[in-house]
Amino acid sequence: MIDFELTENQIAVQEMARDLAEKVIQPTIQEYDRKQEANPAILPAMGKANLLGFCIPEKYGGLGMDYISLGLASEELEYVDTSARVILSVHIGLFSLPLLTWGSEEQKEKYLIPAAKGEKIATFGLTEPAAGTDAVGIQTTAVKDGDHFIMNGEKMWISLANIADYFLVFAWTDLEKKKNRDHSGLSAFIVERGYDGLTTGTIKGKLGVRAGNTGFLSFQDVKVPKENLVYKEGQGFKLAMFCLDQGRFTVAAGSCGLIRACRDASVKYANERKTFGVTIGEHQLVKQMIANMEAGYEFSRNLCFKAGWLKNQGKRSTRETSLAKWIACREAEKAAADAVQVFGAYGFSDEYPVERYFRNSKGASIYEGTREIHTLVQADYALGKRIDKELERDLPPVAQ
Ligand code: CAA
Repeated sequence: MIDFELTENQIAVQEMARDLAEKVIQPTIQEYDRKQEANPAILPAMGKANLLGFCIPEKYGGLGMDYISLGLASEELEYVDTSARVILSVHIGLFSLPLLTWGSEEQKEKYLIPAAKGEKIATFGLTEPAAGTDAVGIQTTAVKDGDHFIMNGEKMWISLANIADYFLVFAWTDLEKKKNRDHSGLSAFIVERGYDGLTTGTIKGKLGVRAGNTGFLSFQDVKVPKENLVYKEGQGFKLAMFCLDQGRFTVAAGSCGLIRACRDASVKYANERKTFGVTIGEHQLVKQMIANMEAGYEFSRNLCFKAGWLKNQGKRSTRETSLAKWIACREAEKAAADAVQVFGAYGFSDEYPVERYFRNSKGASIYEGTREIHTLVQADYALGKRIDKELERDLPPVAQ
């Protein structure tokens, strides 16, 4: 059955996110984007508004909302700024939902509950200085030593690196398999800030998402307790891919917010600004750009609804999520470039937000699977070269 009507709960989450974005993020976004710093008021405000765990079951400190709600909240946050949506991507998409699915009861008690309640902030560490798309190319190792694993390596381009309390880190536990690039030698661990040998830092000078913290993690003989191994040794690659199925969904839904922001700003400007005696919205080439934004928003959003619906059913959505992520990010890039064009010289200045949308739109076609990887993955699905198997575990189904 197809139902495009949002439920009361979904509308409540959407309004909660919209309200927070308007009241807490919007008033200071230009200032923090210019300073290239994260506004420290945002995470506590998100925690207070229950936005850091709303789609985690109540049993584990959340509100038990569905995954379409996660998409809707991502859209509302990114409507104001990408940096706010990134928080949902890493904290919920790449940490809490994977822990809910794959973590032990002890790990859920110790790490998921504080994360869902917003008492602790979490992120994900896969990418390294020399390995992004090529996840099997990572170099970080975690060698068993009694009751611990000793972790060594570097992670790079990690959202919230200098802010998060918990890190879901991927490392080689089988060094022979590392030599052969056999992904069954990779494992996943929860690492806590404060473990000896862990240092973190911030990367400055980013093109976009300047009001978000992005940085690096460095592990020098970090002792990670064996209880912090997530699921089983050798399952790290599959866990990383599972995490990305959730993170990519939030990136796709967030991109819908960016497209909508570009459309709304362009429509307002096109109805005010006059050239040749008429508002520029009367000119056909401006109409074309606005029509493209409208279409891009609608079809990207429908792809997100489909992926979210599958998640709600507890069905695998790797293919649909990848498609939604690829298309929504592509449309966001186009919409942002056109929004700058509609604004003309004013779009070239940070006096108007479209310049920030333009810079922010670029990252999403790079992180969480480049547009090239999603293009190839989609071609391989269509060609029958990639066939998804049933997963050992998937997101727990949830009522809408
Ligand atoms: N869930 C669970 N298991 C999965 C899975 C999924 N979504 N996708 C694949 N698997 C399993 C497969 O079933 C297969 O299992 P078997 O070995 O038992 O058969 C195994 O994993 C290998 O799968 P594939 O053969 O499909 O893997 P691949 O080698 O073709 O993958 C790739 C290649 C698509 C390029 C993949 O490596 C990829 O997606 N790379 C991009 C990584 C990425 O997005 N990195 C960015 C991280 S963002 C970040 O770190 C920064 C931040 O702050 C967010």
